[in-house]
Amino acid sequence: MKLLEVNNLKTYFKTSKGMLKAVDDVSFDLEHGEALGLVGESGCGKTTSALSIARLLPKEGRIVGGQILLDGRDVIPAPESELRRRRWTDVSIIFQGAMNALNPVMTVGKQISEAIVLHENSSEADALHKTKGLLDLVEIPSDRYKHYPHEFSGGMKQRAMIAMALACDPKLIIGDEPTTALDVMIQAQILNLLERLRRELSMGMILITHDLAILGETCDKIAVMYAGKIVETGSVKDIFEDARHPYTKRLIGCFPNVKGPKVVPDGIEGFPPNLLDPPSGCAFHPRCEFACDICKIQMPESVNVGGKHVVACHLKEARQ
Ligand SMILES: Nc1ncnc2c1ncn2[C@@H]1O[C@H](COP(=O)(O)OP(=O)(O)O)[C@@H](O)[C@H]1O
Ligand SMILES: [Mg+2]
Repeated sequence: MKLLEVNNLKTYFKTSKGMLKAVDDVSFDLEHGEALGLVGESGCGKTTSALSIARLLPKEGRIVGGQILLDGRDVIPAPESELRRRRWTDVSIIFQGAMNALNPVMTVGKQISEAIVLHENSSEADALHKTKGLLDLVEIPSDRYKHYPHEFSGGMKQRAMIAMALACDPKLIIGDEPTTALDVMIQAQILNLLERLRRELSMGMILITHDLAILGETCDKIAVMYAGKIVETGSVKDIFEDARHPYTKRLIGCFPNVKGPKVVPDGIEGFPPNLLDPPSGCAFHPRCEFACDICKIQMPESVNVGGKHVVACHLKEARQ
């Protein structure tokens, strides 16, 4: 059985200006121990997808359609009490700048062990023991459990948050731009750490980023999101070596040398669409240099172009 199956997920926000379709018919899946990279420009619905899976949406957000099967069980109809229990043991999210969420007046070790006591009903002694093991796992000397957050560097704090996310042995860990606030060297360390943990603990992982370049070495497969939809998905090789969708190509074009410095700092020309009033047809058509008449009126269907490589684009070259 797959670890996660997201089928036709639709998550909308009620706003004063109308209904905003943040996630609009998104499907993907994940095997146990597999890593998926979810990439796209700011505002395309990545965080909303993650919050939907973890059932942590703010109250104005609603899942209005689809299924989220975690180990075969649909989490959407689950009652709040069950969600609370499963939140730490099933899915854990590490947010961008999570380290700033550490409580400044409590030692790092205490914060982790409190989470363990709370969610696993273990004794203080057992929780402390586990905390030291977790710190060790994220490469923080375990005697530093007595230290306060201000005594930690930014990278160390983020690693402490990863230890916290692992506290109840989740089956799935979601990193939502987990390294965005960190400098490049530390980013690489954190990504390597996540990668190692995923393998050692055989967890599923979803790594969310606006920076396609960081996914190449960390993930098995990639889903490219645009305006609330997945426009292309495939193995890392499919995406980096045989991108089909003009948007994916442009994302890759921004980073000609995947391991080198970015040439364009962030994103591509033009603006992401307003999801309150998205363009007709293919939402990318106003920014697409290859757009034809049909792109303006009809949403392209997803077609399989080999293996698990799927693309949603009207262009003949993209579908061949
Ligand atoms: N609480 C909210 N209320 C209304 N709109 C929201 C809310 N959170 C996010 N959105 C909107 O949903 C869309 C997707 O946002 P998000 O999932 O945060 O994108 P990403 O993580 O890819 O940057 C954006 O248009 C954003 O403005
Ligand atoms: Mg986000």
